[in-house]
Amino acid sequence: MTAIQEAPAAEAVSLDGRTFTYVAEHTVPFRPGDVVVLRAAGAALLGQVTSTAASGSERSATAHGEGVVLAALGDDGRPVRGDVPPFPVATVAAAPVEVLEDLQRSVGATLPVGVWRGGAAEAVARLRAGGFNRHTFLCGQSGSGKTYALGVLLEQLLVATDLRMVVLDPNADFVRLGETRPDASQEATARLGDGTVRVLRAEGTGSEPLRMRFATMPARAQAAVLRLDPVADRGEYNRFLHMVATVGTVGNGTVGELAAALREGDADGRALGQRIENLGMQDWQVWARDQPSAAEVIAGHPRATVLDLSGFSDPLEPLAVSLDVLEHLWTHRTERVPTLVVIDEAHNLCAAEPTSAVQELVTARIIQIAAEGRKYGLWLLLSTQRPSKIHPQVLSQCDNLALMRMNSRADLAELATVFGFVPPAMLAASPHYHQGEMLLAGAFVPAPTLVRVGPRQTFEGGSDVPVPVRGPAHHG
Ligand SMILES: Nc1ncnc2c1ncn2[C@@H]1O[C@H](COP(=O)(O)OP(=O)(O)O)[C@@H](O)[C@H]1O
Ligand SMILES: [Mg+2]
Repeated sequence: MTAIQEAPAAEAVSLDGRTFTYVAEHTVPFRPGDVVVLRAAGAALLGQVTSTAASGSERSATAHGEGVVLAALGDDGRPVRGDVPPFPVATVAAAPVEVLEDLQRSVGATLPVGVWRGGAAEAVARLRAGGFNRHTFLCGQSGSGKTYALGVLLEQLLVATDLRMVVLDPNADFVRLGETRPDASQEATARLGDGTVRVLRAEGTGSEPLRMRFATMPARAQAAVLRLDPVADRGEYNRFLHMVATVGTVGNGTVGELAAALREGDADGRALGQRIENLGMQDWQVWARDQPSAAEVIAGHPRATVLDLSGFSDPLEPLAVSLDVLEHLWTHRTERVPTLVVIDEAHNLCAAEPTSAVQELVTARIIQIAAEGRKYGLWLLLSTQRPSKIHPQVLSQCDNLALMRMNSRADLAELATVFGFVPPAMLAASPHYHQGEMLLAGAFVPAPTLVRVGPRQTFEGGSDVPVPVRGPAHHG
């Protein structure tokens, strides 16, 4: 028996030992997501309320609801897995904080990410690091706190695991992921110290450069960045194919050298050279030349690499360098280095409807990682505003959900289909979440958990530009 006996608030019955229904008179004891202790003759159980309703008149309302049995509680009050028989009558009470903590401990959830209001009690919300061996989908409308929360998750994974991390960061939000705040925990300060996080950026000022090589890209990717269409650009494409067939790839050096060499050749070659010049590709900042490429940096196995994709002048540059890095990870997949591939604003890279050949290739690669990456230790953590914006073949492979405030009913309905294990009533509350509130469900939590995201240990990066509001001083 648990040390603290909770005051029962309702009575429950279970016909199958897996789910239960409860009723309570003149009180609304629980909300969806609350964890409860059920006590039947000779048995104590742990359950979670999944839906609630009320009936009767204002004067004599009856609250009732449904829930699922999570575990039996052993003699020491700790959760134990195993079959639970049906029970005709049980009392139901909100679980005390010790029970919430025991539940987390029983599945190895140790990473603190905020506060969990699991019923009457609040506990530290803890995640199971092992649960990141699946793909995770983080979603919420703009401003709901996705990027902030993503930072909290990444920090805790850096502190508590040795997982390699590659962060594709479109808005320079994670360029300070390696800089701990003065009020950060000792652990975070120690673990996130010098060199843990490598930050690669377009502008080399102070950071390492974010670069790629044309020569080592797969031929299809080269054709995509050259915007070559096999039919519309028949001659040039054919010239390109023959170059690939003879030398294995196009150009051993830079695209500029390639364009110069083509200028000396036949009509199709000259056209291909002109294409490179007309597209301004020789001026792309992203070419590595004598610097290391991002793929080469990652090949050295830094703990975490942040690729700041902002700051390039051609919108194809960030896509091309992302493709280069994803190709590298995929090519080396059989080395089975556990790697979390984090993509903020993921609809840029795995769009539901890609708008360029390069974006199509990036999307196809992410689809493949989503489908087959798990067996090689390649796991995705994708963040976006709306589930419909990312490719459905990627979304359908995600097993973990982190949901922040989201208004759209259609989007919530889509999430309910993909993440069928999340109580619909918990999803339905999402339009009313405050900034920083996040529902976690899947392998990284013992039960669907509504979290108030805790403070960051490191600095946020490129923040929004504030509106210049005139202060009261200007009025007099
Ligand atoms: N849990 C939180 N605690 C404190 N500030 C937060 C929290 N979540 C978000 N913010 C702040 O709110 C703003 C928007 O958050 P952000 O993570 O950028 O949202 P999103 O990525 O969903 O658009 C940022 O300025 C961020 O610092
Ligand atoms: Mg964001």
